[in-house]
Amino acid sequence: MSIIDGKAISAGIREELKKEVAALKVQGTVPGLAVILVGDDPASAVYVSNKEKACEEIGIRSAVHRLSAQTSQESLIELIKSLNADKAIHGILVQLPLPKPLDPLVVLRAVNPDKDVDGLHVVTAGRLFVGEKGFIPCTPRGIMHLIKSTGIEISGKNAVVVGRSNMVGKPVAHLLLGENATVTICHSRTRNLDAICANADILVAAIGRPGMITGDYIKPGAVVIDVGTTKVDGKLKGDVLFEEAVNKAAFITPVPGGVGPMTITMLLANTLEAARMYG
Ligand code: GUN
Repeated sequence: MSIIDGKAISAGIREELKKEVAALKVQGTVPGLAVILVGDDPASAVYVSNKEKACEEIGIRSAVHRLSAQTSQESLIELIKSLNADKAIHGILVQLPLPKPLDPLVVLRAVNPDKDVDGLHVVTAGRLFVGEKGFIPCTPRGIMHLIKSTGIEISGKNAVVVGRSNMVGKPVAHLLLGENATVTICHSRTRNLDAICANADILVAAIGRPGMITGDYIKPGAVVIDVGTTKVDGKLKGDVLFEEAVNKAAFITPVPGGVGPMTITMLLANTLEAARMYG
């Protein structure tokens, strides 16, 4: 059994990105990321501050737009349009969830897909679906990185993704399919979930139900990626019951310190890519 150290892998990538950002600056382009935070969800506020800090650490210019929960959809879309037109901004991220009645799908559609470093625009999702080049959503890109860090061959393996969100489950399933895995997507209505998971060489748990994936769900020798981050009694808990799964898996990510640190790192990587392509 080996624990995948997302924190260390992430730190290594950020060091590389820092050098690449510096090299791009010498050529006259300073990568710029705009982050839009609407409302006062405390978790979102922390995520956005972490993104701001991470940008600063590697030399990406970030501009955070903090808007009130009463912001109208029209004015939010106007802001996005002005950022689309801003040559100093290469990436635009709208922090989710948006307060009601804002419609995330409509708002996200206002982002220029060439600046969609979060990978959530419908065009970006379509590009991933058909296998065209485009931004890869940050958490799925981080997950693929962690799976590849184990050195296992993905091609031909049974991969099971538990969860079907637009942000994680669906895109990660497409990425695994793109690497020639045989992919099964499971969700809250799936029958015999334990038996399906127990056949997974690669198991990605992204359901948001702490500790639901017990040892019985794990195939001996599997790679287990835990995307869950639910706060229980003030502590972050994954979807996988780590103390049981760790004895069966060949590789497993901890929570915290697994997938979490990779998400922001991949946002930085996507922003650098955007600045290189369109800077
Ligand atoms: N909320 C939680 N995670 C994310 C993310 O990766 N991107 C955005 N836009 N919102 C989020």
